[in-house]
Amino acid sequence: MATGMAPPQRSGYLVAPGAAVQGELTVPGDKSISHRALMLGAIAAGTTDITGFLAGEDCLATLRALEAMGVKIEHPQEQHVIVHGVGAHGLRAAAAPLDMGNAGTAMRLFMGLLASQSFDSTLLGDASLMRRPMERVAVPLRQMGADIRTQDGRPPVRIARVQRLRAIDYALPVASAQVKSALLLAALQADGRTCLREPATSRDHTERMLRAFAVRVPQQGATIGLEGGQTLRGAPIRVPADFSSAAFFIVAACLGGSGLRIRNVGVNPTRTGLLRLLQQMGAAIRIQPCAPSGEDSQCEPIADIEVHPAPLRGIEVPAALVSLSIDEFPALFIAAACAAGETVLRGAAELRVKETDRLAVMADGLTALGVHNELQPDGIRIRGGEGFSGGAVDSHGDHRIAMAFVMASVRARAPIEVRDVANVATSFPGFVATAGAAGLQIETR
Ligand code: S3P
Repeated sequence: MATGMAPPQRSGYLVAPGAAVQGELTVPGDKSISHRALMLGAIAAGTTDITGFLAGEDCLATLRALEAMGVKIEHPQEQHVIVHGVGAHGLRAAAAPLDMGNAGTAMRLFMGLLASQSFDSTLLGDASLMRRPMERVAVPLRQMGADIRTQDGRPPVRIARVQRLRAIDYALPVASAQVKSALLLAALQADGRTCLREPATSRDHTERMLRAFAVRVPQQGATIGLEGGQTLRGAPIRVPADFSSAAFFIVAACLGGSGLRIRNVGVNPTRTGLLRLLQQMGAAIRIQPCAPSGEDSQCEPIADIEVHPAPLRGIEVPAALVSLSIDEFPALFIAAACAAGETVLRGAAELRVKETDRLAVMADGLTALGVHNELQPDGIRIRGGEGFSGGAVDSHGDHRIAMAFVMASVRARAPIEVRDVANVATSFPGFVATAGAAGLQIETR
């Protein structure tokens, strides 16, 4: 490439209205599972061969941080990573602060992993991550004996070396897989048996993957136990396609076209609340489980998802499905705007502390596209039925909000401009090409 050439601008999408969504597609690997496979592989004994890896910016931040702490990682192909584990005590101090970019999962899980090390660490990130709350992880880690400082509850997070951690018995105040996972990672190095209780079910990828790495994680109802000092054994991990990335296309295919099949999607029941919500709204969705593959560590269920357009009706989102759909609300709000009647979400204040305040940013975008809505402190009411006018919406750098508004175009009366979309690459490299293959026309600008 010629020197001095300006980098391609990927700051906005212009999406044509009225696409017919159809065909078959795959979406990239699961972000949550890819982060965990790298981290557990790093502290395991032996080699962890990861296929289906998500080479998005978030997981690459985790990969680089582990390399900076002395872990040898091969990355022979985009979706194939081989981690040479250094064992429980093999990480080394990084020469500089660890930059987590936009990745909240990376920062929070590293807090747990680094709390028990014999060296100091500093974690920071991009402007969005520097605004996100970290005390929810720091408070219980301090109870375990960790020495962690945040700045008014936010990054940078400074972790000082400690001798030992001790096990705790802890009831999480919010359902959070990131908090739970950070504590499980710390518990691996703690004296005694840690017990964690959640107020509602959050994704259980860490528990499943720890078991695939030969760690005992007994669970009784909402209580998870973990005895410190267990050795992780490296394992082959096949990462399924990310349900949260598939979610945008599931919604689009409900709204228009002639049927879409998305292959090899992770359908862990702690992640797929959106399917139940859409089915309650009247969606036509078929789940076809894939036969487990021989090389799979078999820690996650995988299925093909087939979706046909259907008339939708508004619903009251059941409280029990909120934590099981937590990343899918931007996509669900697009479906709600096209459903007959009102959709009401409550008990979802957590959405205000994601990559953006997803309640406020989605409400602004819906309003800009002519959808009547009422923002509540912990939710939103959306009056559906008319679909969308054209217009411009700002994602404020939130990948899921950008992709959700792309799908709104299927029921729009004029083009939709989506601004500030560079962070789509954090979770969905190749999004524009995949969307194009499904029938959406996106011009990047
Ligand atoms: C994640 C957990 C969720 C989710 C995030 C990924 C994870 O956050 O929103 O995108 O990989 O553990 P919380 O656990 O904080 O709800």
